[in-house]
Amino acid sequence: MGFEERAQGWLAWARTPGFDAYWRYRDAFFALVPPPGEATLEVGCGEGRVARDLAARGHAVTGLDASPTLLAAAGGADPASRYVVGPAEALPFDDGAFDLVVAYNSLMDVDDMPATVREAARVLAPGGRFCACVTHPMQDAASWDQADPDAPLVITEAYLEQRRMQMRVERDGLDFTFDGWCLPLEAYAHALEDAGLLIEAMREPADPTGGRWARVPMFLMWRALKAR
Ligand SMILES: C[S@@+](CC[C@H](N)C(=O)[O-])C[C@H]1O[C@@H](n2cnc3c(N)ncnc32)[C@H](O)[C@@H]1O
Repeated sequence: MGFEERAQGWLAWARTPGFDAYWRYRDAFFALVPPPGEATLEVGCGEGRVARDLAARGHAVTGLDASPTLLAAAGGADPASRYVVGPAEALPFDDGAFDLVVAYNSLMDVDDMPATVREAARVLAPGGRFCACVTHPMQDAASWDQADPDAPLVITEAYLEQRRMQMRVERDGLDFTFDGWCLPLEAYAHALEDAGLLIEAMREPADPTGGRWARVPMFLMWRALKAR
C-alpha cells in the first residue's frame, strides 16, 4: 500500500510534535548535513517536516514525493520552498541540478532503492553530497519482550535477507502501518558504490533520551560525496 492511501494517517503521525523518533534523532542527522549551497533536494519528503527543518537552516529546498496529498500539505506549510510530485526512481530534474540531496527515512520505502540512489547521484553536481537516514538493519532483524525492560535482544529474522516489511503501530490514539523493505547494510553500500558515491561519514546514533535504543541502533545515517 502506497503512502497516498495512508496519507491522513502519516500526516497525523508526522505532525504530532515529539511523537515519533524523528524528534530524537534529527540533531544527529543534521550534524552530517553540509551547510546550505545553492540547491537542496529532499527525496521522499512526505508532509515536509525534514524539508522545513532544512529551509530553517538556510537551504533552498525542493521536496519530491510520490504522494500528491502529502505534497499539498508540505507546500501549504512552507510556501517559500518548491514541492514536486514524482517518482524517486526517475527524478524530473536535470543532471547536476543540486549540490545536496537528502533522503530521510525514504530509501527503505521506495520500490527500487538502488535506482533511487542512482538518480540522487545523477542530479548531484560534482562535489555534491548525498545525506540519508534509513531504518537500521538491526532494528528489522531483532526483537525483544516488550513487557520486560531487561529482556535480551533476540535476532529473530535473517539479517542479510532482503524482504518486505509490514508493521502496524498503534500508540496514544494514532495508528499507522509501516510498509517497506528490510535491507542489509551491504545493499545500501552496493547502491552507493554503483552510483559512484563515496561514503564520507556513517553513524548509528544512540537515542539521546536513553532506554533500549541507547544500546541498540534504530537508524543508520551517512553522508556520501559525488567526487566527479
Ligand atoms: C516514512 S515517509 C518519510 C517522509 C519524510 N522524509 C519524513 O521523514 O517525515 C517516506 C516517504 O517516501 C515517499 N515515497 C515512497 N516511495 C516513493 C517513491 N517511489 N517516489 C517518491 N516518494 C516515495 C512516501 O510517499 C513517503 O512520503
